[in-house]
Formats: sequence, structure tokens, C-alpha cells
Amino acid sequence: MAGSDTPRQHDIPVDASATGDQPAGAADEPAANSVSGDEGVGSAGPDRAGDPTAQDARTPAVTVRGTAAPSTRDVRLKIRRFLPEQDAEPHWETYTVPTEQGDRLLDAIHWVKWNLDGSLTFRRSCAHGVCGSDAMRVNGVNRLACKVLTKDLGDEVLLEPIKGLPVLKDLVVDMEPFFEAYRSVRPFLIPGPHEPTKERLQSARDRERFDDTTKCILCAACTTSCPVYWSDDAYFGPAAIVNAHRFIFDSRDEGGEERLEILNTKEGVWRCRTTFNCTDACPRGIEVTKAIQEVKRALIFRRF
Ligand code: SF4
Ligand code: F3S
Ligand code: FES
Repeated sequence: MAGSDTPRQHDIPVDASATGDQPAGAADEPAANSVSGDEGVGSAGPDRAGDPTAQDARTPAVTVRGTAAPSTRDVRLKIRRFLPEQDAEPHWETYTVPTEQGDRLLDAIHWVKWNLDGSLTFRRSCAHGVCGSDAMRVNGVNRLACKVLTKDLGDEVLLEPIKGLPVLKDLVVDMEPFFEAYRSVRPFLIPGPHEPTKERLQSARDRERFDDTTKCILCAACTTSCPVYWSDDAYFGPAAIVNAHRFIFDSRDEGGEERLEILNTKEGVWRCRTTFNCTDACPRGIEVTKAIQEVKRALIFRRF
């Protein structure tokens, strides 16, 4: 496998069950070995959720009178694979997947795992754009696989792990450096020294000040799309700054000065070159670059 120049093809007919074409062992692989959060799959619809044998779920068993059968389209997933026990270098493998109109990219990746190659490894949990675990590079840009429809992609889709973090296996990266930067900005409410005697109140206007940055799901799509982070992993990265922003501008918090000092370093906010990749990549639509600019301004004027 190592050093192989020729990408492998795994093409099977649309109705795999009719031909008995399923590779041996593909469905035997316990999904929990390679995919986290199996208990919360839900991504393949009620028929297929958590069921590795459900390769026929795209072909309805019952035809409802007056409705047309859903059309399928073959999509080739070209996936960058890396099996640390076997491979010196990553290599590409191509899988052909029959997809329907409403299928998400995550459904197609599941289909590969359940029907073609049980060793394919990726992260996912909620399958609904909430947990942030399935960020990956899709045709060169960071996306959550559960938020992309295959109908919006071409006939061939390139899938790679997010960039800038060590690859553990296939599409799974080591998130620890990312979370280390996140933790270092103290992403929690730091109250003043005096115990309040009543609830800490906040006006709607004050709450609005940091509303955007509360939406972060820590998927790392922003940080791993940043060219500065690719070249210098000591840079805190946009996600850490977004989460610092969330508390710096919270009127109930008293740790703003401390966080600003943490970010007022060589590897802090000043490393940002306003490239906007992070804003484009954010699946929650957070104005990441704007948040970074606001932190820079708060540092200059000491007003927040
Ligand atoms: Fe993901 Fe957006 Fe949070 Fe970055 S800011 S970690 S892209 S949700
Ligand atoms: Fe990087 Fe975003 Fe700044 S992509 S350079 S953190 S605007
Ligand atoms: Fe949870 Fe995609 S699987 S965000």
C-alpha cells in the first residue's frame, strides 16, 4: 500500500445486494472502532441509522402509487487514506456511491464504510451540524460532512482531513493542539471577587454584543483553514480568539484584561493577516474575522 501510485477503485453497481458484490468483512467492522458517537448516528435516516447492513435503504421496498421512484446519481468519493500501521505516506482511494437527492455527504461516507470498506475512519456524532466533529476538507475547503448535500457537489469529490493538525488515521486528526489553544484563553466566565447577592442581570443590548461568538461548536474548520496556522501552529488560531471574544465582551465577565494580555503576544491576534478563510469556512456563519478585529481594537483602545 505504501508508495502505491495508482489510486484504487472500488466501484460496485447501484444495487449491491443483487450482485452480492459487498466486500467481505466490510459490514463486520464494528463502527465504534473508527467512528465516535455511534449512539447518536441519526444521519442516515431512520432506516439506516446505526445499521451496517442497510445498504439497500436507498431503494424503497414499497412503491407508493403516483410517486416517482427517487433517482440515484453515482458520486465518486476520492478519499485520502492513511493507515499508520501500514502506510509510510497517505494515499488516495476512490469509491463509487449511489446517492439520492437529499443525501448528505456524511451519508455517502457512511455508505462506503458500511458497504465497501469498514476500515475507513472518520469522526461524527450528531449528524445535524451541532457537535462539530465531522469537519473535513471537501474539494479543498473545510466543511462539516453532515451539512453538505451530495447534490451540491460534483461527480467526483475529494475528501481529506483538515489541515494543520496531526493525522491519526484517514480523516481523523489529533484535536489536542486545537483544544490546548482554546483552553489557554480561559473560555469561561470569570466573575468579580464579590459574591453577588442576586442574579447577574444583563440587558438584551449587552447580550447582543457577543451573540455571534456564542454559536461556536469548536469544529476547528476556521483554524485549520487559516494559512497562518498552517505555517505556524503556535498561532492561537481563529477559534481560540472567537471563544475569547465571547467572554471579553460579556458584561458579566471580569477576565477581559487577562484574556487580552494572553492574546497580545507574538502568537496572538496580531498574527492574523485578515485572510477571511476562517469566516468562509465557519459552518455556523460566525463572522470570525470581524470578531478578531474587535479583539484587536479592544487591545488598542482598551475598551470592551
Ligand atoms: Fe467551527 Fe466556526 Fe467555531 Fe471556528 S468559529 S470552531 S469554524 S464553529
Ligand atoms: Fe487566518 Fe482568519 Fe486571520 S484565516 S489570517 S485567522 S482572518
Ligand atoms: Fe455533528 Fe456533523 S456530525 S456536526
